Amino acid sequence: MPNILVTGGAGYIGSHVVRDLAEHGFCPVILDNLSEGHREACPGMTLVEASIADPAALATVFTRHRIEAVMHFSAFAYVGESVTDPAKYYQNNVGATLTLLEAMRQHGVRTFLFSSSCATYGNPVYTPIDEAHPQNPVNPYGRTKLMVEQILEDYRRAYGVRYIALRYFNAAGAHPDGTIGESHRIETHLIPLVLQAIKGTRPSVSLFGTDYDTPDGTCVRDYIHVCDLARAHRAALELLLNGGEPACINLGVEQGHSVREIIALCEEVAGKKAPVIEAERRPGDPPSLVAKAAKAKKVLSFMPDYTDMREIIKTAWQWENKRRY
Ligand code: UFG
Repeated sequence: MPNILVTGGAGYIGSHVVRDLAEHGFCPVILDNLSEGHREACPGMTLVEASIADPAALATVFTRHRIEAVMHFSAFAYVGESVTDPAKYYQNNVGATLTLLEAMRQHGVRTFLFSSSCATYGNPVYTPIDEAHPQNPVNPYGRTKLMVEQILEDYRRAYGVRYIALRYFNAAGAHPDGTIGESHRIETHLIPLVLQAIKGTRPSVSLFGTDYDTPDGTCVRDYIHVCDLARAHRAALELLLNGGEPACINLGVEQGHSVREIIALCEEVAGKKAPVIEAERRPGDPPSLVAKAAKAKKVLSFMPDYTDMREIIKTAWQWENKRRY
């Protein structure tokens, strides 16, 4: 079984990828410092508790396990925090990624899957957004993801690194078996916040901005189920291991849902109203982000299984009610 190093494999998206890899003939080796990740998210898996910024720990992992490829999820992902503390973001998301890439170079590992983001596009100049859309990120978080994409392209030319950067739109939902799901140190994402407000574990949820130039005045996003993301990562990994070409690929459902629609669907799924407070716009939020996902279909033969937003929210609601961490 090929050993795949998964950095951030105890985090939200990483843990779903690790589960999917293990179920499909790969042997994931998780490297996670558990600053955001959870040990409970990866029971029975090989977990090395260390940082990607630690060259000695990386050397040990690459020496002990014959690593065939690296999937890189460990990054900070709070847009607001990236504005107030950019040093943290550049040091970790860019600096520590360079340390990881250097360890790969020293150990002759050239296959790299990168967790990128639609945040690299910035404010859309047209929609839906395809991979050729200009990349002008509007916050440090998005810039760190774009910088790593650019570094990877330089490393491809110079050192033959073979990478696929997957630009996700909005990751959502939880594993349908209810054992793993979203659990952040500080929750900033819409769906868990609405569900927690419905459940009563937080007093209310704020709706950021009702005066956008969108059909109902609230922001539109393209939500993709985390298990679909995991499947797409495996498809990209298999492609690279079989000699496929480096690429940057969007992962989305090609459906836009407004914040109001999401709140209404959460209420429908939970059978209860959400206490919502209409608030000012959140700085840095583009009005609408919807993917064009033709490249994922063509290059990865990937189509999302979850195309009904209700079904995505049902898995998140199940998790919210029985969360283990
Ligand atoms: N929103 C609210 N109230 C909240 C939280 C969010 O109204 O309490 C709105 C936001 O303003 C936005 C929408 O709900 O319009 C979705 O917000 P999320 O915070 O759930 O997600 P983002 O769209 O901000 O996601 C962005 C990028 C991703 C990136 C992620 C990092 O689209 O690529 O931030 O967390 F990975």
